[in-house]
Amino acid sequence: MADAFGRLVSLFSTRTILLLTRVFHRFGWMSQYQPLPHVSFGGASFSSRIYGRLDAIRDNLGSGHHFGMDIGCNNGFYVFSLAGPDRLMYGIEGADDIFQVFLAAKRMFTPGNVIPLNMYVTPDNARGLPECDFTILMAVFHHWARLYGEGPALDMLSTVLQKTRQTLFFEVPFARDSGANYRDCLPDRDADDPEQWWRAWFATQGWTSMAPIFQLNRTLYRIDQSTPSAGSNL
Ligand SMILES: C[S@@+](CC[C@H](N)C(=O)[O-])C[C@H]1O[C@@H](n2cnc3c(N)ncnc32)[C@H](O)[C@@H]1O
Repeated sequence: MADAFGRLVSLFSTRTILLLTRVFHRFGWMSQYQPLPHVSFGGASFSSRIYGRLDAIRDNLGSGHHFGMDIGCNNGFYVFSLAGPDRLMYGIEGADDIFQVFLAAKRMFTPGNVIPLNMYVTPDNARGLPECDFTILMAVFHHWARLYGEGPALDMLSTVLQKTRQTLFFEVPFARDSGANYRDCLPDRDADDPEQWWRAWFATQGWTSMAPIFQLNRTLYRIDQSTPSAGSNL
């Protein structure tokens, strides 16, 4: 009886969070960057960039990519979309309100291989990130650069690479494409060719292969470690 009551309460709170999210998102009061198709929270307000990036990442995952993490995963759209019986996904999200939506969506719709982590990644705690076969870091690095400065942000990125056994999916606005808030703090700001700047930086870390896999407004890159460590099976 107590168990049934507990479930009812948790379902109610889950539905409430998701319902409020829909309403708040519609009026622009919440930073939901992604759709949640299972709560009919999608459609035209989310650009085809969101879905294009997902297809590109899916097409680039192979049989060795069993453990993934999405840093700054927002409401977990990519985490839910990529997790499966043969793939476990960590979703790292630092904003508490957005994390509640991620958690509510997981409780309601996707049991199993999704691990939500409410972690605000900083220069001091980045070493606590889990290890995985591949990492998704999209539209987050420039926040690090603005908050912590070029050197600490690159150190954080370096730590992310150490945690990633094989592949990084990386999207960052180049300085020349950025608004003033970010332009001045991005490390490629003085480069004639920002893409080349990033290629050279990743090469210093031992990540020599960098290929564009999707482009709409910004470019999403697949970057691979020169000597990938073998992933383990689930
Ligand atoms: C611009 S949104 C991008 C969302 C998603 N990565 C995408 O591309 O669709 C940035 C997300 O990263 C989260 N975020 C920003 N800085 C973070 C940090 N230091 N640690 C964890 N999450 C962070 C924000 O709360 C937000 O959900």
